[in-house]
Amino acid sequence: MARRHKRFEVLEQRPVNKDGFVTEWAEVGLMAMGSPNDPKPSIKIENGKVVEMDGRTRDDMDFIELFIADRSINTDLAPQMMAKSAVEIARMIVDINVPRSEVVKVFSGLTPAKIAAVMDELNVVEMMMGLQKMRARRTPANQAHVTNLQDNPALLAADAAEATLYGFAEIETTVAVFNYGPLNALSLLVGGQTGRPGVLSQDALEESIELQLGMRGLTAYAETVSVYGTENVFVDGDDTPWSKSFLASAYASRGLKMRFTSGTGSEVQMAYAEGKSMLYLEIKCIMLTKGAGVQGLQNGSISCIGVPAGVPGGIRAVLGENLVTTCLDLEVASGNDQTFSHSDMRRTARLLMQMLPGTDFVCSGYSAVPNYDNMFAGSNVDADDMDDWLVIQRDLKVDGGLIPASEEEVIAIRNKAARALQAVYEEFGLPRITDEEVEAATYAYNSQDMPARDKAQDTKAAQDLLKRGITGIDVVKALAKRGFPEIAEAVLGIQKQRVSGDYLHTSAILDTKFNVIAAVNDLNDYAGPGTGYRLEGARWKQLADIRQAISPEMI
Ligand code: 5AD
Ligand code: CA
Repeated sequence: MARRHKRFEVLEQRPVNKDGFVTEWAEVGLMAMGSPNDPKPSIKIENGKVVEMDGRTRDDMDFIELFIADRSINTDLAPQMMAKSAVEIARMIVDINVPRSEVVKVFSGLTPAKIAAVMDELNVVEMMMGLQKMRARRTPANQAHVTNLQDNPALLAADAAEATLYGFAEIETTVAVFNYGPLNALSLLVGGQTGRPGVLSQDALEESIELQLGMRGLTAYAETVSVYGTENVFVDGDDTPWSKSFLASAYASRGLKMRFTSGTGSEVQMAYAEGKSMLYLEIKCIMLTKGAGVQGLQNGSISCIGVPAGVPGGIRAVLGENLVTTCLDLEVASGNDQTFSHSDMRRTARLLMQMLPGTDFVCSGYSAVPNYDNMFAGSNVDADDMDDWLVIQRDLKVDGGLIPASEEEVIAIRNKAARALQAVYEEFGLPRITDEEVEAATYAYNSQDMPARDKAQDTKAAQDLLKRGITGIDVVKALAKRGFPEIAEAVLGIQKQRVSGDYLHTSAILDTKFNVIAAVNDLNDYAGPGTGYRLEGARWKQLADIRQAISPEMI
C-alpha cells in the first residue's frame, strides 16, 4: 500500500471505527428517510371511509394499510389536515404558540406518507423542541433493565432495589434460561418495591407466559408486543395487526399496563422492507399502535439500532420516530436501550436527543447492571455509566429521571431486598437462598461474584410456582409474615392497581405513595420558557447533590 498518513493510522484505532457504516441502498430499505420508493401523500374519503391513501386504493392496500385506513385516521378532519403543507405542520410542532393539543388534532388526520414528509422538514434541534412540547406526560421518567447471566434470584432482587433507589419508574427483566421466567418476575417484584415503592415491573418472555405472570400479579406491565411496518414481516412472526390488538386487550382487560414495541430497521433486518425508508415504515407501526387503541409505544429502533445507525441521517430518523409517537398522543419509551456504538462520544450524542427534551421514559432500558449481565444484548448506558448520567443531569440542569444515592444507602437497600426475597423463598418452599448468597448479592459487581446455584432445581421450582398458582397476594402475605411490612404494603399497592386500573391511562407511572402520574393529571403543558416541566425546588436540589461534590463545611 502507498505510504500512510500517520493521522489516519491513529484515527483508524479510534473506537468509532469499530462501528459499521454503509451507504444508502434504497432497494433493500437501507435508507433512513425519504426513499424514492416511499409513496406521495394523498387521501380520498367516501362516506366516511378512506378509499385511497398515499396513492393506493383499498384493493391495493396490504393489511397494515387497511388497518390504518380504517382505525388510525380521523376521517372528519383528514381533508382539512392533509391540505396543510408539510412545512406548515412542521412549524406548528416547534411554534410555542401552537398548543400540543392542536398538533395532536392535526396529526389525527394525516396519512403515513404525510407524516414522513413533515418529519423531513425538521432538523434534530427542532425535533428535540418538538419532543419537549409533545411528550404526553409533563414529568419525564426513566426505565431500567435488570437481568443477569446466571438468573441469580438474590442478585436480581438486589439489583432491582438499587435501580429503583436511583429512581427508575419502570424496571424490566428477561431470562438467560427460558424456564426461569416466573422466578425472575418474583425477584423484580420484591426487589423493585424494596428500592422504590410504586415502581412498575415486567418480564419479557414468550407471549402466553408473560400474560400469565401479569394476570397473577407477578408483573405490572408488558412492553415487548412487537409490530412491524410491512405485511411480510408480520406474517413471518405468525401475527397480524388484529392478533396484536387482541393481545393488547387481553392485558388491558386484566388491569395490566401495556405498550407495543417497534422501531426503524426491523423490516430491513428481516429482509422485507419493500424498498421503503425506515422512518416511513416505522410511521405505519406508530399509526397501527394508535389504531389498536394501545396507550403507548416503545420505539427508537430498539434492538435494530445498528441498522439506522449505519446509514446517513439514521440517528435523526430515530429521533423522528420518537417525535411522531408523541404527536399521535401516545406514550413513548424512547429507546437508548441497545448498544450500538463503541464510541463514548457517539453514544452520548445519540442519548442527548431524548435526554435533553425529556420523554416519558428517556431510556426504554438503561442497563442497571454491568454489560456482562445484560441479557438484552447490552444497553447504550449501563451501571458503569451511572455517575456520568448523574453529572450530566447536574451540568445541564436536566431531569433524566435519576437521583443520586450514597454507597451506604445502596448497600443497605440491596441487602434488604435480598433478605426479603430469601424470606419469600422460604415461605414458598423454593430452593433456598443462603446467607452467603445474600451477602454476595449485597456487594456484588456482577454475577461472577455470586456462588453458583443448582439451575435444574431452580427451573423446576419456577415451573412449579406457576402450577401452584402463586399470585402477588401470596407474595404480600409472605412478606408481611416474615417482617417486611413496608415491602408487603408496596406489593399490595401494585395488586390494587390491577383492580382500579388507574395506571392504564396514557403515560402512567406511580409515585412512591402510589399516586398515578399520567397524561390525564400531569398533561404536558409546555408552551415555551416559564411553562411545562421545570427542574427546580427540592427535586433540583436532590439531583444537584451528588456525593462527589465538595462543600465548604467539609473543609
Ligand atoms: N421492532 C419490533 N420489535 C422490536 N423489539 C425490539 N426491537 C424491535 C423493533 N425494531 C422487540 C422484540 C424483542 C424485544 C426486546 O423487543 O420483541 O424480542
Ligand atoms: Ca424496554
